[in-house]
Amino acid sequence: MPISWALLFIQLLSSTAVLGVRQTTQSHLRIVNGITIPISFAPWQVSIQVMGNHICGGSILNAKKFITAAHCLNLPAHQLQVRAGSTFRNTGGQLVNVVYAKKHSGYVGSPYKHDITLLLLKRKLNLSYKANKIDLASNSPYDGTTAFVSGWGRYVEDKNAFTIDLRIAVLSMIDRGTCQKSKYAERKMKITKGMICAASGGKDACQGDSGGPLVANGKLVGIVSWGLGCAKRGFPGVYTDVAYYRDWVLKNMDTLGS
Ligand code: ARG
Repeated sequence: MPISWALLFIQLLSSTAVLGVRQTTQSHLRIVNGITIPISFAPWQVSIQVMGNHICGGSILNAKKFITAAHCLNLPAHQLQVRAGSTFRNTGGQLVNVVYAKKHSGYVGSPYKHDITLLLLKRKLNLSYKANKIDLASNSPYDGTTAFVSGWGRYVEDKNAFTIDLRIAVLSMIDRGTCQKSKYAERKMKITKGMICAASGGKDACQGDSGGPLVANGKLVGIVSWGLGCAKRGFPGVYTDVAYYRDWVLKNMDTLGS
């Protein structure tokens, strides 16, 4: 395990260096410009599915409770399943039915506000090195903190290019105030309280990564929520700020059922 982490780190750092140069010449690249990883590197990551199709990412909070984005829940909860413990979105691991979802009551669409939901599974997952829980961040990460986003979403913005293997990209956190001053300001798109951003030249989450984890210092700091396109210069990825919702999550986890 320590060796594989070292290798991952080297790969991530080298991809950062290469992409830092590319960023100036291409406006949208490809998780866009991540690398593939085995699920054991991000064992909290799950795929939320409808009739065998991946629709969103999510994270394991405990053996029966999950967190994702509210905008992933266009269907009744009982039509959803969660695949945990697999590197591949279409096969392997544990596939378990969802029985109940608790959406944030303040959730609104486009642009998403309070984009957060808890899910309760029908039965407990078997936790292992491939399917494990992650703790919620207590504080919003500082500007510039290194964070990892993972998912099975598009790796090219404008194509239906979904990956079979899980991907990860290393990003840098951008605080809400700084993010609001990005090109989102020109488009009059508001980065409201409860949102936080992350970016790194040419790398981003993309469609299909929604609901998935953004992790810094071993804690869940963000939930993939929205962005204008993917990996476009001046338009960071926007995430639900997990620390901001920590009390909501803890309270609602208790009342979700067991
Ligand atoms: N809303 C998208 C989804 O449903 C995720 C978008 C994230 N976009 C970004 N550029 N970071 O999958």
